[in-house]
Amino acid sequence: MKNILVIGSTGQIGSELTMELRKRYGGDHVVAGYIVGAEPKGDLLESGPSARTNVTDRQSLEMAVKEFHIDTIYNLAALLSVVAESRPSMAWKIGIDGLWNVLEVAREYGCAVFTPSSIGSFGLETPHVMTPQDTIQRPRTMYGITKVTTELLSDYYFLKYGVDTRAVRFPGIISNVTPPGGGTTDYAVDIYYSAVKGEKFVCPIKEGTLMDMMYMPDALHAAITLMEADSSRLVHRNAFNIASMSFAPETIYAEIKKHVPTFEMVYEVDPLKQAIADSWPDCMDDSCARREWDWKPQYDLASMTVDMLEKLRARLGK
Ligand code: SER
Repeated sequence: MKNILVIGSTGQIGSELTMELRKRYGGDHVVAGYIVGAEPKGDLLESGPSARTNVTDRQSLEMAVKEFHIDTIYNLAALLSVVAESRPSMAWKIGIDGLWNVLEVAREYGCAVFTPSSIGSFGLETPHVMTPQDTIQRPRTMYGITKVTTELLSDYYFLKYGVDTRAVRFPGIISNVTPPGGGTTDYAVDIYYSAVKGEKFVCPIKEGTLMDMMYMPDALHAAITLMEADSSRLVHRNAFNIASMSFAPETIYAEIKKHVPTFEMVYEVDPLKQAIADSWPDCMDDSCARREWDWKPQYDLASMTVDMLEKLRARLGK
């Protein structure tokens, strides 16, 4: 990775991934791709170049790739699961038509491509406990359908054209920087904000609902180490299960309560989110990622909670 383009650099993952890549590869070598209306600001704007790159506009991608001599693309343009259900055609347009443009440009200019998949690529028929790397997927949400298609199309471009595509299936990602928008796992971020602000948390997900989650530093580490990995060791490509923790609402609540004893949580289940959550794995088996590119997470629920509360308190002045 010499010159990297991050498409969606102002989003939930992109904003932190761009900064982390700039730390490792130098500011000038990492281009922050954005769409009109979501322009980079502050550190993201000042620490390196930026370029308008809309995945639905192939020319905009091509111009950025040519101008900055890009050899690696992180394609993070997507709608999260709940939003995708209300805007299915937009989810397809960004997720799949957009991916097609990215892959075509990558094929023409010889770029490697990372386009994340998700726990959302699984469905009700998937084995939910220790979900294997290769198993039944068949999701019924538009988010999931675009993610399975992303995996297949990315593999197709590798097998047919030799485009170096690689990806992970991200769990719900928890961070204290850019909040997520419209995801099923967002509750696990929102709960920390409520705790720090001294508000009661209304949980949209039912007690006992297990989902894989991950702290942002581990998610960034995964995205970078996979792209740096020796390709001769990769048996899989699109996309690797990665896991670090799996919990239900009552477990994260109890963990936060250890630090904020007055914190209160009530349940008000959102049927759409609950149905989506019920179709996703309880916990994934990530042994292929561990074996093929030495994936290893740093954070568990306890250490993430300490860090989240500390960072959020500092940022919100609490
Ligand atoms: N965080 C995503 C969502 O909830 C899952 O990958 O939509």
